[in-house]
Amino acid sequence: MILKPFMREGVMPLPVTFISTVSADGVRNIAPYSCIMPVLRPLDLITFASAEKRDTLANIRETKEFVINLAGAAMEKSVIPTARMTGPEVDEFDVAGLEEKPSATIKAPGIMGCYAWMECSLVKEYREASYSLVVGKVLHLEVDDNAIDEAYHLDVERAAPLMMTGSKKGMHFCTVQETQGFEPFAAMFPTGVDPVTKTSNS
Ligand SMILES: Cc1cc2nc3c(=O)[nH]c(=O)nc-3n(C[C@H](O)[C@H](O)[C@H](O)COP(=O)(O)O)c2cc1C
Repeated sequence: MILKPFMREGVMPLPVTFISTVSADGVRNIAPYSCIMPVLRPLDLITFASAEKRDTLANIRETKEFVINLAGAAMEKSVIPTARMTGPEVDEFDVAGLEEKPSATIKAPGIMGCYAWMECSLVKEYREASYSLVVGKVLHLEVDDNAIDEAYHLDVERAAPLMMTGSKKGMHFCTVQETQGFEPFAAMFPTGVDPVTKTSNS
């Protein structure tokens, strides 16, 4: 089947994150963002694409900070309440009935009930006419203790990361499962040593 080029998310499941921000006036905002990715291992940068007309983007321009909240599948019901277009004066924690999780390093709060939180400061905005690519530096990364082990291996069954694919009809929500496959990073390098962590393959 040949798909229209814009249907990229039809073949590429995307994470459903919630970005929480606060306006300069102190109004709390939440919006789902799926066009998001970390910028290379081992950097501490993360980037996402935002349409120009977003309170999230306006708040980040004003305050230079935001929280990326990683949600489990149980938070599927919070997607539409936070995705509806509302005025910048509306507190979206109240609208969605979500409780704030105070942040450790920035004023913008995270969202209780998520399994991980990235408190970020704005590094750079690549601005185009109708959208921007926002690059943030992760200042504080926190994960629910029940969702990760000592080796930082996320238990995807417990975390059940909320993801989506887009079809002609709309958004379909899904999550991920382990294949039980494992390879050390060092396996990618002919030396058998991972230059980032200096650990070996053996
Ligand atoms: C699952 C999902 C993912 C979304 N991902 C993005 C995204 O990556 N970038 C974007 O600009 N809008 C995205 N949106 C749309 C915004 O969440 C939506 O327009 C929201 O109302 C923006 O809120 P704000 O104006 O309070 O920032 C997404 C919506 C949904 C439901």
